[in-house]
Amino acid sequence: MPELCLVCWVLLLGLAQACPEACDCGEKYGFQIADCAYRDLEAVPPGFPANVTTLSLSANRLPALPEGAFREAPLLQSLWLAHNQIRVVAAGALAPLGHLKSLDLSHNLISDFAWADLHALHALQLLKMDSNELDFIPRDAFRSLGALRSLQLNHNRLHTLAEGTFAPLAALSHLQINDNPFDCTCGILWFKAWALATAVSIPERDNIACSSPHVLKGTPLGRLPPLPCSAPSVQLSYQPSQDGAELRPGFVLALHCDVDGQPAPQLRWHIQTPRGSVEIASPNVDADGRVLPSALAADGQPRFQAFANGSLLIPDFGKPEEGIYSCLATNELGSAESSVNVALATPGEGGEDALGRRFNGKAVEGKGCYTVDNEVQPSGPEDNVVIIYLSRAGTPEAAVVKAGGPEQRLPGLLWLAQSLLLLFLTCTCF
Ligand SMILES: *[C@@H]1O[C@H](CO)[C@@H](O)[C@H](O)[C@H]1NC(C)=O
Ligand SMILES: *[C@@H]1O[C@H](CO)[C@@H](O)[C@H](O)[C@H]1NC(C)=O
Repeated sequence: MPELCLVCWVLLLGLAQACPEACDCGEKYGFQIADCAYRDLEAVPPGFPANVTTLSLSANRLPALPEGAFREAPLLQSLWLAHNQIRVVAAGALAPLGHLKSLDLSHNLISDFAWADLHALHALQLLKMDSNELDFIPRDAFRSLGALRSLQLNHNRLHTLAEGTFAPLAALSHLQINDNPFDCTCGILWFKAWALATAVSIPERDNIACSSPHVLKGTPLGRLPPLPCSAPSVQLSYQPSQDGAELRPGFVLALHCDVDGQPAPQLRWHIQTPRGSVEIASPNVDADGRVLPSALAADGQPRFQAFANGSLLIPDFGKPEEGIYSCLATNELGSAESSVNVALATPGEGGEDALGRRFNGKAVEGKGCYTVDNEVQPSGPEDNVVIIYLSRAGTPEAAVVKAGGPEQRLPGLLWLAQSLLLLFLTCTCF
């Protein structure tokens, strides 16, 4: 069937010669090359040979790389996209290019980059992203780039780098990251140390410099003076807290979260009561106890009053407020948490805490003890249980002895004077 064969040939030839109208395609040294540079293109043109390995789209006017932009060219090994006007590289634009070894996206306007696509580019050896508007690199951006040798991120808008960003780059030999507006705070110190110790060549080190704070502007990172930096630590204390304090129902419970750390950590409260959980991310009352506009509760008063100084007041503390109170402090060096489990009880009768476990109050050798029915050693926040014994009206109960724990540090408050409460900090009873 000679006619059929002719059709085959035409088709084959057609495939062999497939090339977008705007481009030049050809074969050189075993590579199938498509050259579409300097063509004023505003989109990736269709019609590439399916086995194209090298594609240049440099110096065009591409505004973005949408998902599937290179669907026709899954075997690409080199992709040149420098000097376009790309702002957005969408998820799925680069991920299909598992054979890619060289990628040049430099001299664009990229601020929105689908970093997760890099996770699929296991073969990548050269990544040029310099002269863009990147202001952020996720910590795990380079986690799959074990073959990468050269990385260029200079002339972007990077303010900081997450610790360990470059750790997965086992083959890296060249890193260019100068001319970014780095914030010289505690969070960048790891990079200074890493850059000093690494065997990776890092050119233009004097231009890897601080843009803030003002006093350090222009200081090369390598010459940064030591900064006072420490990860947060927290200590939760509570009032009433002194021996033999006695309280009536309707008292105010005060928790205080004492925070240390440089830079000053952000404080959050997490409260877990049987009715549900509450998050308080910032003070909801001012120093005079006035409710801040941002925190108006339905009745005009927040149930839990969080102050800027780290105190949390719970007026008229009752059964519904029993639960686990945690304060969390976070700064750029880490975070810390401290919790206390508060339960109400009647002297001599024990009670049930927010975890639904029954407990008994006992006095053993001058110590207050907390026992749970199943005798499981408490762990986690429930290690630290405050059992508040409300006295029955009238007759004072026999003394319940308090065991002082390391968390009890604050002096008593004046309002304690008229209160009747026996406070009890956990210890383990055997
Ligand atoms: C690409 O495919 C065409 C046509 O199928 C073929 O002629 C060419 O040799 C191939 N090139 C490479 C580098 O494999
Ligand atoms: C924090 O401020 C509140 C309101 O001014 C006050 O009641 C509380 O005692 C303060 N806490 C400490 C630990 O100073």
